[in-house]
Amino acid sequence: MQRLPAITTIAHWYLRNLLPENACVVDATCGNGHDSALLAELVAPNGFLLSVDIQPEAIQATSQRLSHIGVSPNRWACLLADHRDLPLILPTPLQSGLDAAVFNLGYLPGGPKTITTARSSMDALKRTLPLLKPSGFLVVTSYPGSEEGLAEHNAVAEWLHQKASNGHDLHHLVSEGRQQRPPELWILSNGKSPPHRVE
Ligand SMILES: C[S@@+](CC[C@H](N)C(=O)[O-])C[C@H]1O[C@@H](n2cnc3c(N)ncnc32)[C@H](O)[C@@H]1O
Repeated sequence: MQRLPAITTIAHWYLRNLLPENACVVDATCGNGHDSALLAELVAPNGFLLSVDIQPEAIQATSQRLSHIGVSPNRWACLLADHRDLPLILPTPLQSGLDAAVFNLGYLPGGPKTITTARSSMDALKRTLPLLKPSGFLVVTSYPGSEEGLAEHNAVAEWLHQKASNGHDLHHLVSEGRQQRPPELWILSNGKSPPHRVE
């Protein structure tokens, strides 16, 4: 049987297809560095990637992965920080606006689940949206399969739906049938569509 791609693979598909050349991007939850590795490839040759995580283990894992694949230090920085502080820590190449910010939420595999909090994720998303260029977008993966993840997912879902009803384009993808509460993918555009005209 042909299996459909995982949500994380589809998130990468969006990034590959929507990011312009020389993109300026943030990986707001770099974890083991899988998303950052893709983003580093996509920002080449003249864009910039900032990878952020609140856990030192994640910063170490991402730094090792990106150094191993030979990403130029001129094109990438990795910071131990809370993603709520993104407006305060953006390096110069990103200060004129982001093409995308990636929030692969949930917890680091093998790490503490309590690090996932609805409060900090919501603060971070709200503070990051205004940092996007008009053509920029957010890529959010939520993980409702654990108690902590469900609270975070519910808060994020409510906020994203509000944005959609306020004119932002929103794609929402969830696979059905294989897992009780599988991860869900959300792509939110910063730009707003004009309101529908009622004839
Ligand atoms: C599902 S993992 C990310 C996976 C990762 N993007 C990858 O490709 O391997 C979620 C990450 O979010 C991080 N995180 C949780 N809260 C955070 C916060 N407030 N600021 C920054 N990172 C945070 C966790 O430490 C964890 O590494």
